[in-house]
Amino acid sequence: YAAFIIAVAVLHIVNNLSIPTSLTHSYPVFSGATDAMTQWWYGHNAVGFFLTAAFLGMMYYFVPKRANRPVYSYRLSVVHFWALISIYMWAGPHHLQYTALPDWAQSLGMVFSLVLLAPSWGGMINGIMTLSGAWDKLRSDPILKFLIVSLSFYGMSTFEGPMMSIKTVNALSHYTDWTVGHVHSGSLGWVAFITIGSVYMLVPELFNKKRMYSESLINSHFWIATIGVVLYIASMWIAGVMQGLMWRDMGDDGTLTYTFIESIKASYPYYVVRVLGGLMFLVGMLMMAYNVIKTIGSSELDNEASNKEAA
Ligand code: HEM
Ligand code: HEM
Repeated sequence: YAAFIIAVAVLHIVNNLSIPTSLTHSYPVFSGATDAMTQWWYGHNAVGFFLTAAFLGMMYYFVPKRANRPVYSYRLSVVHFWALISIYMWAGPHHLQYTALPDWAQSLGMVFSLVLLAPSWGGMINGIMTLSGAWDKLRSDPILKFLIVSLSFYGMSTFEGPMMSIKTVNALSHYTDWTVGHVHSGSLGWVAFITIGSVYMLVPELFNKKRMYSESLINSHFWIATIGVVLYIASMWIAGVMQGLMWRDMGDDGTLTYTFIESIKASYPYYVVRVLGGLMFLVGMLMMAYNVIKTIGSSELDNEASNKEAA
């Protein structure tokens, strides 16, 4: 948590470095390709710290707590932390493949992105293996399902990212909805799921209740959200690859086979599926809001906690 807060502050300051010329006017110190690089140094570390490090902090606390098991490997979690800190900082150029950025910097970004797969998967495995000996809990505990499925999405998006950073793959995926699919397997599948699981664990604690109002509602939330995310990202994968292939398709005479608008029209059905997935996710969140409100309002107090308080 501390690393995430400090890193976001440093990123923000460096990205906005300016030379003041008067009280109300200033010039940014970076320009051109250097400016683009600084912005993606900021942008990718926002993914690494804002959307990953803080949520990993939640993962390392809530998964062992919920599984009632010590974290699988404490040593691995320390290696995970330091490896993420030192490698994420260099991966930004993968957002600028085939631009005016020097070629060596693009390749450097690609290599660091590929290396990033190892600590990311080490962390994912560390979280999932914390369940060893308690796998049966997954069957009966919907909160644990949220926490563990979020880890699988973490693993999936941190596999997909390094693949997309490979220049030849990026030549196809960049500018297409594949990127948008990748974004949401990370932000919905990983970030939102780990948060939802943590909130379900925290609400009864915070409001002194024995448990959430309805366990079966949590279970329904889990399924509707999972199907929603899968519809979202699968439709964006298919749309993205299709767009990439349509844009590069050329006839024998070297002219483009498709106009841009044809690729938009062809994407339409996939956008309908994305709306459906997004709506399912939204319905799940409304179910959660209802469950939280009912929990806070329920008169069933956590006896253990109130006894402790009385003592
Ligand atoms: C090993 C980890 C990861 C690597 C190497 C990686 C790599 C990439 C690559 C190559 C792109 C496409 C750049 C482009 O063509 O424009 C991308 C986009 C993106 N990724 Fe990842 N990714 C990783 C994990 C994640 C995770 C876990 C999240 C979210 C929690 C995430 C969020 C994003 C976002 C928001 C974008 C889109 C940025 C934009 O253009 O607006 N990434 N990532
Ligand atoms: C039901 C939930 C969600 C829906 C339906 C949704 C939908 C969308 C849509 C339609 C876009 C624009 C894509 C485009 O440029 O064509 C987008 C972009 C984005 N969303 Fe979401 N979103 C959801 C939740 C989230 C959450 C929870 C996060 C972060 C934790 C997030 C992070 C982002 C980011 C970073 C982008 C920019 C992607 C890029 O530049 O490629 N979204 N989202």
